[in-house]
Amino acid sequence: MAIRKIRKIGDSILNKQTKEITEMTPRLASLIDDMLETMYDADGVGLAAPQVGVLKQLVVIDVSENADEPMVLINPRIVETSGEQTGDEACLSVPGKSGKVTRPNFVKVQALDRNMQPVEYTGTELLARAMCHEIDHLSGVLYVERVEGELHDARASE
Ligand code: NI
Repeated sequence: MAIRKIRKIGDSILNKQTKEITEMTPRLASLIDDMLETMYDADGVGLAAPQVGVLKQLVVIDVSENADEPMVLINPRIVETSGEQTGDEACLSVPGKSGKVTRPNFVKVQALDRNMQPVEYTGTELLARAMCHEIDHLSGVLYVERVEGELHDARASE
């Protein structure tokens, strides 16, 4: 496993569409492991493949307190949402900043897991927010496009 370089805002790869994944390969399995390691190393709760320069529909998420519940989503689709939450959001590709974004408070996602088997996840609050944020990355959308008001400097703890 290896820590990959995280692309930063201004890098045009972050604004590109991604491609569906059709088969698991050793190369893709390594990418998943590297993305998890990169996310944990950066103290993030999610990372999308374009953030490490790969235009594929793959995200990893872990919102658990002990960072021990990794979620791997291949070709994820949001199939249901409800409610609303408004709160500060940040992104490893926009270091040191955060901004207020409104997201659904409940999200249901269908995807494939790392064995290319169908999975369905539901999330509320932070998990719902993370799923929306990461899936946005797969369409080349950064949260800064959705911010209400101004981006501000994140507190050191964020
Ligand atoms: Ni992000």
